[in-house]
Amino acid sequence: MPKRPFTIALSGKGGTGKTTTSSLLVRAFIDLNEKPVLAVDADPNANLHEALGVSVQETLGSMREEAFGRTIPPGMSRHDYVRLRFRQSLVESEGFDLVAMGRPEGRGCYCFANDLLSECMKDLERDYHFIVIDTEAGMEHIARGTIGTPDLLLVVSDPGARGLRTIARIREIATQLGLPNEKIRVVFNQYKGGTAPIDFGNEEPIAIIPDDPAVEEADLNALPVSRIQKESPARVAVRALAEKIVALALERKQRGSE
Ligand SMILES: Nc1ncnc2c1ncn2[C@@H]1O[C@H](COP(=O)(O)OP(=O)(O)OP(=O)(O)O)[C@@H](O)[C@H]1O
Ligand SMILES: [Mg+2]
Repeated sequence: MPKRPFTIALSGKGGTGKTTTSSLLVRAFIDLNEKPVLAVDADPNANLHEALGVSVQETLGSMREEAFGRTIPPGMSRHDYVRLRFRQSLVESEGFDLVAMGRPEGRGCYCFANDLLSECMKDLERDYHFIVIDTEAGMEHIARGTIGTPDLLLVVSDPGARGLRTIARIREIATQLGLPNEKIRVVFNQYKGGTAPIDFGNEEPIAIIPDDPAVEEADLNALPVSRIQKESPARVAVRALAEKIVALALERKQRGSE
């Protein structure tokens, strides 16, 4: 629906559920007919493709090594070659495409190559409504500018005191990187329930995803987690999150046309 894609980056400390939430978010946008979605795996230990049930042949990292390490086809500029290979590295699936970034840095100076990749990302962006980026625990890609500035940074966390402290640290880093505070929202994952309301302090979460046995089961059976039943609690919660994001994208669009 929006003309410029609305970009959502997911961050958080290791094992909090970034990949699970990213894949369910991609699925939810498809369910809401907000397609095509671009899924970006920005974690060097890429496994978003598994969560989405597709396989990846090559990453942008390996492609960059190749394009800059060998002779390119005659009659083609290195620039065009990278653009072509970039398109080819895209994994196309039902309702979404996926691109895996691989390692952010190789040997030597890759500034030129990284700039070129950011340019390719910008080329690509025009084709999508929503871009979901599963980032690594740190904020390498945001710091390097490879993925640009997201419209929304979701910090995935466990709902406890330690989680809240980590969120505060991530908020600090992200704001230092130039992201306004209001674009940083918290997602509490693997919430084990209970009847007492929890005190989130100043962190009013944009979503609370329950601990869901279906997610665990998919993991144990090596099945794509994004394919769990539609009425599974985690999938229902992420759909509600996707609806909120669609509303945010609409707001941005309306602000843009004021
Ligand atoms: N809502 C949930 N209910 C039950 N299990 C969950 C839920 N969310 C995540 N998990 C489980 O927690 C583990 C970590 O999830 P996931 O891989 O999504 O985290 P991550 O933040 O991407 O991890 P990493 O930092 O290693 O990339 C997985 O085994 C996953 O199945
Ligand atoms: Mg992950």
